[in-house]
Amino acid sequence: MPAPARLVVLISGRGSNLRAILDARDLIGADVVGVVSSSAKAAGNQLATDAGIALHVVRGADFESREDADRATMAAIDAMRPDWVVLAGYMRILGDAFVAHYEGRLVNIHPSLLPSFPGLHPHRQALERGVRLSGCTVHLVVPGEVDGGPIVAQAAVPIEWSDTEDSLAARVLAAEHSLYPAALRQLVRGEIVYRDGRLAPSRD
Ligand code: GRF
Repeated sequence: MPAPARLVVLISGRGSNLRAILDARDLIGADVVGVVSSSAKAAGNQLATDAGIALHVVRGADFESREDADRATMAAIDAMRPDWVVLAGYMRILGDAFVAHYEGRLVNIHPSLLPSFPGLHPHRQALERGVRLSGCTVHLVVPGEVDGGPIVAQAAVPIEWSDTEDSLAARVLAAEHSLYPAALRQLVRGEIVYRDGRLAPSRD
């Protein structure tokens, strides 16, 4: 059996996706070797502490520039020697140098069916547009695009006529908790590989 992959998870808030990933470590074939949080107050920080996982808080506000904050975040991440860097509700926008440094092993989850509704308030965008399906997307993060990059996996979630932003967010979040571990498993096992800016099935 191959050694478990080393994941570093980046959070800013509640951490429910971090919890789903921690619960699915065996399924994914990975260890979470560290958590980097952009907020000392993030509820998710406690999950790392309770699980005995190294937690580093790196707050953007403590640095003069985004680049300085990115560099400090990268130093914290690289010290943990990750195979994969997993964004799970991480709210800082990352600079191109950061994204390029981890290209091909930087993963994000966004609560819409990309390329529809990138950016802030995806559930509000979906309800305002009147689509009948929303969902969530796991994708690699590449330089120059917010919520862009090659798509690893998606799950569709129906929108009910009675939905509010909150009720839709809750239904999509439940789908995220299954999708993210399943997508990470595919990447960790090398079933799909990043090559020439695209994801493709492994040739093995
Ligand atoms: C999730 O909806 C995720 O898709 C988005 O931010 C939310 C984070 O939730 N990027 P949590 O902190 O994992 O509970």
